[in-house]
Amino acid sequence: MNRTTKRAYLSLAALALAGGAGAASAATLKIACSGLGKELELCKSASQEWAKSTGNAVEIVSTPNDGSERLALFQQLLSSGSSSIDVMQVDAAQVGLLASHLLDMKPYSKGIEKQEFPSMITNSTVDGKLLAMPWFVDAGILYYRKDLLDKYHESVPQTWEELKSTAEKIQNGERKAGNKLMWGYVFQGRAYEGLTCDGLEFVASYGGGTIVDPSGKITIDNPNTIKAFSTMASFVGTISPTAVLNYAEEESRGPFQNGNAVFMRNWPYAWAASQAPDSPIKGHVGVTVLPKGGANGRNAATLGGQELAVSKYSKNAALAADFVLFMTGQHVQKERAVQGSYNPTFPALYSDPEILAANPFMASLQKVFASAVARPTSVTGAKYNQVSTAFFDALHDVLSKTDTPENAVSKLNTRLGQISHGGAW
Ligand code: GLC
Repeated sequence: MNRTTKRAYLSLAALALAGGAGAASAATLKIACSGLGKELELCKSASQEWAKSTGNAVEIVSTPNDGSERLALFQQLLSSGSSSIDVMQVDAAQVGLLASHLLDMKPYSKGIEKQEFPSMITNSTVDGKLLAMPWFVDAGILYYRKDLLDKYHESVPQTWEELKSTAEKIQNGERKAGNKLMWGYVFQGRAYEGLTCDGLEFVASYGGGTIVDPSGKITIDNPNTIKAFSTMASFVGTISPTAVLNYAEEESRGPFQNGNAVFMRNWPYAWAASQAPDSPIKGHVGVTVLPKGGANGRNAATLGGQELAVSKYSKNAALAADFVLFMTGQHVQKERAVQGSYNPTFPALYSDPEILAANPFMASLQKVFASAVARPTSVTGAKYNQVSTAFFDALHDVLSKTDTPENAVSKLNTRLGQISHGGAW
């Protein structure tokens, strides 16, 4: 990210949320949160609640929605030791990459982490330090238009092949009936972290592994990956607009939310937006697991999530830690689940009646989380970002038809070998 973009994001920010009227603010904390769906709005309201109850102030710094751009911004700021942000929303896949800049939360957490999903806590723990507090957990899911499946007497697709043929049929039918904007399937195809997520679940669904296996072995060059890449590429320009090559989460939600897509791959947050009172598709949306890669494949969802971390360079670290514990605690997580369908990181909240009433699909997501596919972040450590970039660049070349699946996978294999120094990582 260039300097101008960086400045624009930081100055765009500054929505001061002062504590109660007339209260002398003891301190002003700055939190950088992202804005997928209702994220920014919910970040603001919860920050306001903390500010009011403690007499401090919070400023919201808006950051890019694209996780790769956000990482670049944080790396740039933190590597200069800047104290301009106290608290950051960090992608669960990137905690390890920022580890040296984050405050250990253990002295402040009072053991609350014992009540959360152990996988999220393991992910946030580096060298025995708890470097971020889980905020919500994510898994890729398939959204579909119930009304359109009914209209065309189709059922929910079980495999990617079925998804393609159903999407084609409905897309063509709807276009003939007058909606020229209709597409069959939208997903995240831009060259960024999101494409690694979409690609990994595709590869895993065909039995192609997880790029690098937990022992550190590079496993990407196999026929199942090639099959996954070519199937995905066959969607672009047929059931998916070529514009998907530049779609992140919100860009893919656009056509689906406007009623112009039959299927969408996205994270759970897109549910709340689809059910908003003014949503054209309210009441017409179903949610299910992503399809299998062929009849012998499996349903695979990439595990994601976001956390809150305190910068080591914060001038108010203890206060910032208190703020993070409030923001990631059960009270705020419940509010975020009800209002924005962000999945809690406390298993206990999955039996909360209000949460389940707002998100009927959430109970079944616990199963999806249990079998979700983790990105190879732990085994590749500080090199994860290079691994992910090599993967999404290779897949992007295939999706844009500038490389064949065979060639791209073979080049990727070589590239990963170089990054890992022959598998030593
Ligand atoms: C979501 C997930 C995160 C993932 C990102 C990719 O925010 O929570 O883990 O890396 O999407 O775009």
